[in-house]
Amino acid sequence: MYSLGFHRNNKKELCVQGIPISDLVQKYGTPLFIYDSKLMEERYNTFVETISVVKGNIHYAVKANDALAIISYFSKLGSGADIVSIGEFEKCVAAGMSPQKIIFSGVGKENSEIEIALKNNILQFNIESEEELDDIFKVASKLKLNANICLRVNPNIAPNTHKKISTGDKETKFGIDFKSVNSIYKKLHELNYITPVGLAVHIGSQIFDFNFFYQAYLSLKNLADDLVSKGYKVPTLDLGGGIGINYENNQTPDFSSYKKILLDVFADTNYKLNFEPGRSLIAEAGILVTKVIRNKKTQDKNFIIVDAAMNNLIRPTLYEAYHKVEPVLKKNNSVIVTDIVGPICETGDYIALDREIEKVESSELLAIRTTGAYSSVMRSNYNTRADAKEIIIYDKRDYLIREPETVKELISKEKVVNYN
Ligand code: LLP
Repeated sequence: MYSLGFHRNNKKELCVQGIPISDLVQKYGTPLFIYDSKLMEERYNTFVETISVVKGNIHYAVKANDALAIISYFSKLGSGADIVSIGEFEKCVAAGMSPQKIIFSGVGKENSEIEIALKNNILQFNIESEEELDDIFKVASKLKLNANICLRVNPNIAPNTHKKISTGDKETKFGIDFKSVNSIYKKLHELNYITPVGLAVHIGSQIFDFNFFYQAYLSLKNLADDLVSKGYKVPTLDLGGGIGINYENNQTPDFSSYKKILLDVFADTNYKLNFEPGRSLIAEAGILVTKVIRNKKTQDKNFIIVDAAMNNLIRPTLYEAYHKVEPVLKKNNSVIVTDIVGPICETGDYIALDREIEKVESSELLAIRTTGAYSSVMRSNYNTRADAKEIIIYDKRDYLIREPETVKELISKEKVVNYN
């Protein structure tokens, strides 16, 4: 029997579902993303239990990790999806999910995307402006198809997270301000081919102070109650995602405090609630395994140069994000303070700065933890680097779920122009 999630065997080697990581690397090489389906399932079930105190559905936020095998796994567990592009829609469908379980969010849906979503009878659009409503109305009336519309509200709450992932304050591009909600919601009732389904809020990601959720949810509920008292239909409230996870020591997210907030705000209400968790379902279930290329020592600093770079994991340099890094095989070597950097030619190409870690030699493996969410999905081919393979472990067996394009394949999609 093994413990849940990534764990060490008696040889102090990091394993997943009992399989040593080095065995997987031998088969697939590095850099390599590895996902543990067991931990995904545990997080999903805990989320289901958390929201069991209300009438709620889960719509996994596909942006966190859009690999078909990840979407289809959550779909198999019962989840719907929250998407922000028609590309994500196509991925959900390819993964076997019904469009009737898909919510289309995002500020910039194009008419062509709206058309595809309508023709496929998508569950609902979460819209972010009156202009967007007008566009959806035009497309829906042209096609003579009904669009279910939910208004995303901007509650003007800044939830004390990194500024690039804070979406609830009024300076951001997201949501409709409170003052405009009434008139737009009224308009939903007046337009043909438009069915009002409710209100939505998403104040940001990686939130630890759940008071912000409480404030946002309470103001959404009060707004909905007010609309209902005026005779409008508000069957659904969409509460977005955003639950913070612990990158330092892989503790379970604070689902019990979240449950308490749901009870405090929604216990006596009749609203159907939608949840859009991303990070809290998948982040901890992923690691990125990288090989040490070499150590470099200068007068001032130590560097461990590894074969994963900012094209595989941009979070450290984009958000100053912390990811725990540990040797796959612990040897009880002395600890050094070092930057862990990739081969890309930018000072910003780092995995960790001034990090304490056991000394490792060339060819040894490091595991970059908590890289299931917003990691591979934000990859690029910068510096003409092929990106990483991805595998999932299901029922103690490994499955290749994404084979990246080789440099040859990348080149084959470009053309040399004859300038003569
Ligand atoms: N719903 C909406 C409308 C969203 O915009 C997001 C995330 C979610 C749900 C899921 O939130 P989560 O449960 O994952 O916090 N790339 C950044 C995170 C961007 C989040 C964007 N929106 C990062 O690496 O931290």
